[in-house]
Order: sequence, then C-alpha cells, then structure tokens
Amino acid sequence: MENVCPVVIDPTGTDIHAEGERIREQGPVGLVELSDSVRAWSITGYEAGKQALGDHRFSKDARQHWTAFVNGQIDPDFPLIGWALMENLTTTYGSAHSRLRRLVAKAFTPRRVEAMRPAIDKIVANLLEGLADSRPGEVLDLKARYAHPLAAEVMFDLIGIPAGARQTILRGGEAQVDTTMTEEEIAASVGQVLQEMAALVEAKRQTPADDLTSDLLGAQEEDGSRLTDAEMIGTLLLLLATGTEPVTNLVTNSILALLVHPEQRQLISTGHASWHDAIEETLRAEPPVAHLPFRFAVEDIQIGGVTIPAGDPVLMNFAAMGRDPEIHGASAGRFDISRPRKDHMSFGYGIYRCIGMPLGRLETEMAVAALFERFPDLALAVPESEVRPQNTFIMNGRSELPVLLTAPGNDSRG
Ligand code: HEM
Repeated sequence: MENVCPVVIDPTGTDIHAEGERIREQGPVGLVELSDSVRAWSITGYEAGKQALGDHRFSKDARQHWTAFVNGQIDPDFPLIGWALMENLTTTYGSAHSRLRRLVAKAFTPRRVEAMRPAIDKIVANLLEGLADSRPGEVLDLKARYAHPLAAEVMFDLIGIPAGARQTILRGGEAQVDTTMTEEEIAASVGQVLQEMAALVEAKRQTPADDLTSDLLGAQEEDGSRLTDAEMIGTLLLLLATGTEPVTNLVTNSILALLVHPEQRQLISTGHASWHDAIEETLRAEPPVAHLPFRFAVEDIQIGGVTIPAGDPVLMNFAAMGRDPEIHGASAGRFDISRPRKDHMSFGYGIYRCIGMPLGRLETEMAVAALFERFPDLALAVPESEVRPQNTFIMNGRSELPVLLTAPGNDSRG
C-alpha cells in the first residue's frame, strides 16, 4: 500500500463524520488502518464512489480476491473477519451474484412493496398507541419502542413469518450480538432460528400465501433453475437482517435530526418542504450504513488519483460521500431539508444497490410523519451530545433515542 500515514479507524464509531473528514484530507480515496495487520482503502469522494460501485473489477468475494487472506496472512481473530467471509447474495461475485440477485428481484417487485402500505399503517398505529399509553413524563426510548419494532414487524409481515415464530427469531438476532451469552447458548438460539425458517419454507411450499417467501419459492430462471433450500433460508435471513438494522437507523436518525432542528420541522408544517425531503436529507447527511466493508480490487485500479493494487481491500464510506464538498459545497455537513441537491448513494449504486430501497423509504416516511403528527410536542429527553452513538463504525445509528412525548411544562398529549 502507498506510503502515506493511514487514519486509524475507531471501532466504536465515536465520531464517524470527523473521522471521514480526516480520511478525506488524503483525497477522494484514502488509506485506513483497521487493525495492527489490516490496512484498507476508504472511498470518501462521491464521484470516486460512483466509479467504484459501478466497476465490475471490484469484487466482494474475499476467498477469491483478498490476497492477504488467500495467502493466510489474516489473523483469524481480526474483528471484521465475519464481514469478509459471510456467504450470501451480498458477497457473491460475477455470475453467481447475478443469478441470486435476479431470483430475489423477481419476488421483490414494486407491487409487493406497494401492497405493504396497509400493513405498515397498522404496525405504525399500534406502536403509536403503545407510546401514548406510557405514563406522563416517562422517558421513552424511541429506538427500542418505535424504530426497531417497526422495521422488524414490517419484515416479518413481508416475509410471512407467523406470529408464533417471531420472538424466537428476534431472540436469535439478539443472541448474535449478546456478549453475555455462552457459545453454546448462542448456537442453540441460532439453531432455533434455522429450524423456524426451514419450517416456514416448508409451510409456504405446501400452502403458498401472498408473501415474499411464497414468491421466492415460485421465482425461477429461464432455464427453470430456482433457489435451493439453503439459498432460500440464507436469503430470508439476509433480508431480515438487511431490512431491519438500516431501517431502524434511518427512522432513528431522521427523528433525531428533526428533533434537534425544529426550524426544519417548521419547513414541513408550513408546506415549504416535505417528509420525503427530510428522509432524503437524513440519508445524505446521516446515512444508516456509514462505512461498509469489503470490496477487493480484482486488478490494479486507478481511481480518485491513486492506484489500488489488485487484492487490496476497499471500504465504501457512504457517510463521507454524502458530505462531499465537491458536490454539496461548504454547507455539506449541515442538515438542511430545503437544499435543492440531496445527492447521495446511501443505498449503494450499481449491481449491488439496495434491493429494499423503495420499501425502506416508504416505511421510514410513513413512520416519521405519523410520529410527529401524533406527538407534535415530541422532545429529546437529554441534550443531543448525550444520545450515544451505536458502538460501530460500519453502521451510523444511536444506542437509544430517549424522548418525552411532550416537552416539560406542556400538558397536551397525543
Ligand atoms: C432504509 C434503509 C436502508 C439502507 C440505508 C440500506 C442500505 C444498503 C446499502 C448501502 C446497500 C449496498 C451495499 C453494497 O453496495 O455493498 C444495500 C444492499 C442491500 N439491501 Fe439495503 N438498505 C436499507 C433497507 C433495506 C431493506 C428494507 C431491505 C430488505 C427488505 C434491504 C435489503 C438489501 C439487500 C438484500 C442488499 C444486497 C443487495 C446485493 O448485494 O445485491 N435493505 N442496502
């Protein structure tokens, strides 16, 4: 790697935007250090990012294209090894990716997304009722009580997961990040999730319903090939994960941004801007996926003024790309829902672009609008500086979002 001093990445993501600006000082493509032995390139420039995301010479398959890994030079304890070695749609390369992507896209149609509207309405209404039932003056964590259950319930409904299996699946997700559980407990919990998913696939095969799982079972290539059972379960689990975490963050980040910028909310209530503007500006300035590992250069690639050698790892710094001053000028770091250009690539771009983009936008807009309409006096319960980041540099979110439904001294409740 080139002879510059890399920016050492803070694994706890204390201030991803300040870190992004330090990387940008090197140019649109900078060097970062992920561990003592792993350096990578981070793409912070919008144009360089677009070029990289559209360039088929960037692979996502570590086993084929990460030279240091192939040569056995990567410590098995490298904390991001799971990101490099997971095997699903997002890490396949070339024709393997196109095949899986085509099959999933056949089921993930605009009609299927639009048909989710009434279900989202119902989920939002139930969650708002739950919030309204809280004690007066109670501090509510809107991430745990609103953003996360919304995102999870939408995915459960979309996939067609029966009510009885939902808790098991939620517990399985928590087990994977619970540092107090033993290896055996985690394995048992994950095993239960796999059993539930296998039962789901079998049930939908016997009795297809109006849901994504049934559509996935029916999806086939022109030559008649379909997803295998293992691919089905892997894809459903991937959709559950990718459809829950970023949406949770987008809802949380949008609410937070509008709470700390009441003048921006005013623009919406006076008709000078829309909820759509607010969500797009959040995607640009506070994207849920901040700094995504990994891509690997299949050959030497010239980009953003540097040559990335074949076999080197690359991270897409979506958070920095959305704040590129070359595109957004000196005010790039400011949250301003009235800015005319809100260009971002926070759903990716090119062949790996987010398959859930229309659904993510729809549910976020519905949830954020309904929340502020129901509780117009919503207020942060702590100063913004005390709303802790999520403890990761890959995602951009908060650990919790403590709010009061009505600002102190205001008695009216929704
Ligand atoms: C609303 C917030 C969301 C954000 C910000 C987001 C962001 C992203 C990004 C940045 C990528 C591209 C990764 C890359 O280029 O390497 C991606 C891919 C993906 N997203 Fe999303 N996502 C969101 C919601 C969803 C939802 C709701 C679903 C599913 C229902 C979903 C499913 C996926 C899948 C399956 C991929 C992989 C596509 C592929 O590899 O071909 N996402 N997402």
